[in-house]
Amino acid sequence: MNKKPYVIGLIVALAVGFAVIGLYALSGGKELNYRLKNRGDLGPLSKDDIVYRTVEAPAATSKDGTISAKDWSSVYPEIALTMGDNAKNTYVVSYLEEDPYLTNIYEGYGFAKDYGSARGHEYTLEDVAATERPHPMANCLTCKTPNFAKLVNDQGVSVYTMDFNEVLAMMEENVSCYTCHGNEAGNAGELVVTHSYVTKALGDAVNDINPATLSCGQCHIEYYFTPADKETMMPYHDVESMSPEAILAYYDAMDFADWTQESTGTKLLKAQHPEMETVLAGKHANFLSCADCHMPIEQKSNGEAYHSHELVSPLENEALLANCATCHGDTDMVKLVKGIQSRITARETEVGNKLSDFKDALAAAVAEGKMTEEELDAVRKLHREAQWFFDFCYVENSEGAHNSELATRCLDTAEEKITEGMALLGKDVNGK
Ligand code: HEC
Ligand code: HEC
Ligand code: HEC
Ligand code: HEC
Repeated sequence: MNKKPYVIGLIVALAVGFAVIGLYALSGGKELNYRLKNRGDLGPLSKDDIVYRTVEAPAATSKDGTISAKDWSSVYPEIALTMGDNAKNTYVVSYLEEDPYLTNIYEGYGFAKDYGSARGHEYTLEDVAATERPHPMANCLTCKTPNFAKLVNDQGVSVYTMDFNEVLAMMEENVSCYTCHGNEAGNAGELVVTHSYVTKALGDAVNDINPATLSCGQCHIEYYFTPADKETMMPYHDVESMSPEAILAYYDAMDFADWTQESTGTKLLKAQHPEMETVLAGKHANFLSCADCHMPIEQKSNGEAYHSHELVSPLENEALLANCATCHGDTDMVKLVKGIQSRITARETEVGNKLSDFKDALAAAVAEGKMTEEELDAVRKLHREAQWFFDFCYVENSEGAHNSELATRCLDTAEEKITEGMALLGKDVNGK
């Protein structure tokens, strides 16, 4: 047997090995670690660059046994710090001032009194305490703090009907580590569903959703309070039933309404913020999680990579935009997204004003008393449906960026229902 090729192979391998080690030593180690910029063919940092550590969990200092961000901060200083950076997201607008027709369409409900846009996770408790919308029960705290999730996990659903202020006084943190990791963050950042209604509603279907999407989907969803226990609940049991059509059918089947509007007599629904439903029906559902677009991968000074826990807009973050480019090439993403958003926002204003006129026309017909209850109920059904479809789009926080087709479908459906309802009232859509 000729050993020559084998020996040459060995020599080459050793030479390459020494060269790599030599380069590493020369560069002080650091330069071999990928840098965000100039990674060339390597592309942007990815999860493959993260070293997932298994570490012992620190002792919990909170009263309820949840391990807080402060507790974790010595183990994961960058993660705790970047999570704190959600305090930088302070921008808010009053939707009622921006879109005056809302006060009319939400008449008789809390959102007609006070409806501002959301801001960062560091303000959840402050904002829920300050809202002028009434909150008679503790269930309003569901999506604000890990301490409430823990209370439900420890004491069961009776917690939902406890007095709001009594429970608020027991809350220690805004959205935090326990919310998305339970007390398990030490296990390589394992994601844990801590909000019990998610597993109740979805059962085994939780396995159909990427954990880095479902962890946000504990709150960024449409939900209702069950009539019996006032428990927070999702109105579906699987991903297929997350469409606005299927959710409406679910509410209709249980004869659910958020409120009955006095002037029209319509049993209305208020949509919440169906981000997960919208994303899962969108173009990226099969390959990108919420984290992929909102949690940039950054580097520590020693070169180790980690997920920033500051939840940012991908349009304002270089690392996230570099991610988009791996599929979208040199498309101007900011222009693409802003274009969609301005188109959807303009349609919202158009349809929202029509909905407001429709509501006035129905209220006038009710006051006039010339139509039978049966005739009015047929219009009320269309009013309920139109408002539901309008709201499903309006309250979704991405303004069409997550799924422009769904946003368009919602607004088109709302407009069709308005036109049909106006015809039953003997009016054309311009209210004449
Ligand atoms: C425990 C519930 C909860 C979970 C889980 C959660 N959020 Fe939130 N999120 C909220 C609430 C409540 C607000 C609004 C806070 C405020 O305005 O006081 C919010 C606000 C935001 C905002 C700011 C919105 C704006 O208009 O400025 C972004 C972005 C966001 N969340 C993204 C995410 C992402 C991404 C995840 C998953 C990694 C996630 N959230 C998980 C409850 C949650
Ligand atoms: C393909 C990327 C992508 C995915 C996946 C994605 N988002 Fe977004 N998201 C965006 C873009 C783009 C915007 C618009 C940002 C802007 O207007 O600056 C946005 C906006 C938002 C906003 C509003 C933020 C604000 O400041 O007003 C929230 C909240 C949000 N997303 C949550 C989520 C949640 C929760 C998920 C998962 C269920 C998710 N996103 C998945 C790209 C994505
Ligand atoms: C709103 C939900 C949310 C909160 C709050 C949160 N995390 Fe995470 N965390 C995630 C998600 C989602 C990922 C995984 C992203 C992925 O892999 O796509 C993650 C990843 C991690 C990882 C794995 C390493 C990495 O960088 O990906 C660790 C460790 C971790 N988180 C620790 C923490 C600690 C400690 C806190 C509190 C200071 C915290 N997280 C708060 C959602 C959250
Ligand atoms: C893994 C590949 C991939 C990545 C990464 C990716 N996209 Fe996409 N994106 C797609 C595909 C595929 C489509 C659908 C194209 C079509 O139908 O014409 C799409 C469509 C879109 C649309 C139009 C969606 C709609 O509903 O109208 C927007 C907006 C968008 N992407 C934004 C982003 C942003 C912002 C990022 C980065 C944060 C991003 N994408 C990252 C593959 C990707």
